[in-house]
Amino acid sequence: KADLRARILEINKLAAKYFYAQLKAPQGKTAYDYLKNRELSDETILAFGLGYANKYSDDLYRYLKTKGYSDEILSQAGLISIDEKHGPYDKFWNRVMFPIMDANSRVIGFGGRVMGDAKPKYLNSPETVVFDKSRNLYGLHRARTSRKPYFLLCEGYMDVISLHQAGFTNAVASLGTALTSGHASLIKRYVKEVYLTYDSDEAGTKAALRAAPILRAAGITARVIRMDPYKDPDEFIKNLGAEAFEERIRGARNSFMFDLEMLEKDYDMASPEGKTEFLKEAARRLNTFDEEIERGNYIDAVAKAYSVSSQDLRKLVTRMAVEGG
Ligand code: CTP
Ligand code: MN
Ligand code: MN
Ligand code: MN
Ligand code: MN
Repeated sequence: KADLRARILEINKLAAKYFYAQLKAPQGKTAYDYLKNRELSDETILAFGLGYANKYSDDLYRYLKTKGYSDEILSQAGLISIDEKHGPYDKFWNRVMFPIMDANSRVIGFGGRVMGDAKPKYLNSPETVVFDKSRNLYGLHRARTSRKPYFLLCEGYMDVISLHQAGFTNAVASLGTALTSGHASLIKRYVKEVYLTYDSDEAGTKAALRAAPILRAAGITARVIRMDPYKDPDEFIKNLGAEAFEERIRGARNSFMFDLEMLEKDYDMASPEGKTEFLKEAARRLNTFDEEIERGNYIDAVAKAYSVSSQDLRKLVTRMAVEGG
């Protein structure tokens, strides 16, 4: 089993090097131009080991066969599939390739992006003996050596790469999968604070709302950065630059306040009754802070944000604790 892991890591490394060489060769020009259009430098392309999987559906297969690997292990590595009728073929073709590294810079899997509008936009390696999606984060191998005491947690490959290129070398991504407690404990080994920088669409907002309590449960402070009016960190950085992003980091709201802001949508805040009901729910949530000082600080913050007296809100919080629910 240990031997199988080692051999799959070796195959992945060879594949990553092969994809990189393809990108730099004449046949990789379209892919290289694609990455240049997305404003990535040669240095960034090398740092993340980006590559190109050729148009031919058995290009990588034939290359890896020259290295003597069996069809069986190549399919266990998730790089080829075996069709009953047509035999083995590559999982990735005509895609820009993003090797996924573990914390120790070993290639554990790949993501491949189409260069046009075809679907699926990204294709990812299946889980293998070396690739557990819920226990790895894209970009971690570089983010772990960043000196910042927090991570920027985003959704996608290009978000991480753009952020690193702009100097935010503490960016990581959970790659489209929901954040798990496995991710949270992995993060906890390096930092105690996370800034959620998910996409500004509804899916991203919901994902941030779901991720915050998972982080908090692991003892990580979670804050949320909004990317509007842009879609995601990659587009934000490209349009507004690193300094504007830095500004958003400074203005990040604690996810508790962010959650409340989302909650407002469920109440008629213009009516006294609606606002009262909203404050009752806020008071219930304030009771989830066990630490008295922290709870007090949040009571003050909520009181200020919603123009009620801290004293009244404190009473309401106590009352909701007694009434329960
Ligand atoms: N994703 C995926 N498969 C898809 C779509 C998305 O695995 N079909 C994952 C990828 O890791 C992707 C992330 O979810 O990076 C976020 O998705 P999305 O926001 O749709 O893509 P972007 O990262 O913004 O991609 P790009 O900027 O290249 O268009
Ligand atoms: Mn998205
Ligand atoms: Mn999307
Ligand atoms: Mn994007
Ligand atoms: Mn996106």
